[in-house]
Amino acid sequence: MSHVRDMSLAESGRMKIRWVQDFMPALVAIRARFEREKPFAGKKITISIHMEAKTAFLALCLAAGGAEVHATGCNPLSTQDDVAAGLASMGVETYAMHGVNAAEYRGLLVEALSCCPDLIIDDGGDLLDLLSGDYAHLGKNLLGGAEETTTGIHRLHARARAGVLPFPMMNVNDAKCKHYYDNKYGTGQSVWDAVMHTTNLLVAGKTVVVAGYGYCGRGVAMRAKGMGANVIVTEIDPICALQAAMEGFEVKTVESALAEGNIYVTCTGNCDIITLEHMEKMRDQAIVCNIGHFDNEIQMARLEKSAAVKLNIKPQVDKFTFPDGHSIFILAEGRLVNLGCATGHPSFVMSNSFTNQCLAQMELWEKHLEVGVYRLPKHLDEEVARLHLDNLGVELTHLTPKQAAYIGVPEEGPYKAEHYRY
Ligand code: NAD
Ligand code: ADE
Repeated sequence: MSHVRDMSLAESGRMKIRWVQDFMPALVAIRARFEREKPFAGKKITISIHMEAKTAFLALCLAAGGAEVHATGCNPLSTQDDVAAGLASMGVETYAMHGVNAAEYRGLLVEALSCCPDLIIDDGGDLLDLLSGDYAHLGKNLLGGAEETTTGIHRLHARARAGVLPFPMMNVNDAKCKHYYDNKYGTGQSVWDAVMHTTNLLVAGKTVVVAGYGYCGRGVAMRAKGMGANVIVTEIDPICALQAAMEGFEVKTVESALAEGNIYVTCTGNCDIITLEHMEKMRDQAIVCNIGHFDNEIQMARLEKSAAVKLNIKPQVDKFTFPDGHSIFILAEGRLVNLGCATGHPSFVMSNSFTNQCLAQMELWEKHLEVGVYRLPKHLDEEVARLHLDNLGVELTHLTPKQAAYIGVPEEGPYKAEHYRY
């Protein structure tokens, strides 16, 4: 039975879920196919993704394909209680509540798994963690799962390397139609949506420090520049550092940027990027936030225990004043700011990511894969892009037979050789 905060919020949640569908063209097309073909009839699917309206629509698409869907969140701050109630009222077993503590969060995930699913969708790897440990027995029916985000992929590969991956997993993050758009343009927009809406501060003329120039960092830096900020990038990878420099950004260490930075955004998927010592030396009124999956990019635990005095200004905005009198503002408790202080990526972007998720579930179900980590076949990725072209008025050029022969590809594609991610 669903476990949500307040069922009286259901109508507000249903309105949000219906509204996002208008902007998710490929997912709407997939739902129509699922309604016709019922590929998941008799199957149970557990999903753990940020519980907001786009995710709810993904759950409904899988249900339209005949699945019994059990849905939970993947971060206590990103759950929207009205969406959780709305989804529960639409026939999906939903276990998600905003603001729960770590033990309650884990409890909700266990509830979502207790149906012993055939397939899972994970965002960050918390379901896989449970199914690899104390709750392995709940994975007895599993054909496999699909992972949504970069940090979850790191955890998947670590398990595969150690030989302890329990079942096949699809790496959806590395599909081009996921990280090219979601990580870059999605994060690039939703981070600034969150920071501006929450702080109401001017970005133009500020110095923004972007830690990590991977896919997310590129989007965040690009949009900050577009709004008139001076952008400083920090990187550990020489190739990414050079790319940032050629894009016109200063590349420095966090330590060298401290005298200038007004807004810090961590985008690394790594720990201890902004340390207590950094925060002690920041400029007065610096804003500090994170978009990485876990809340360990900023040393929140050390900050909370430090001599800095904490004042909660409003939900998701905490002011910390240090003994020397300077203050900094932490957004969303150091958790991913675009989901803690805003509603995540735009629907059109998530239409790409979640269509890939649906196709990954089909692959797992149809192919009965061996244990391992898999990427989506390129033709499916191309199909996801194709399904979004009309909506943006894109006219695709088709190869002539002579051109196809000249560059050595079939007329119908694939048009590009595989290339490096970076
Ligand atoms: P990525 O691997 O493309 O980029 C991360 C970059 O950080 C890399 O270039 C790496 O070299 C750099 N880096 C690592 N350690 C560093 C350090 N100590 N200092 C400076 N740079 C460092 O990953 P990505 O796809 O950009 O994802 C980044 C994080 O964001 C992950 O945790 C991912 O799960 C998460 N994510 C969040 C959202 C969201 O909506 N908030 C969306 C997508 C991904
Ligand atoms: N909305 C739902 N899932 C999301 C994700 N992984 N990133 C951003 N917004 C989202």
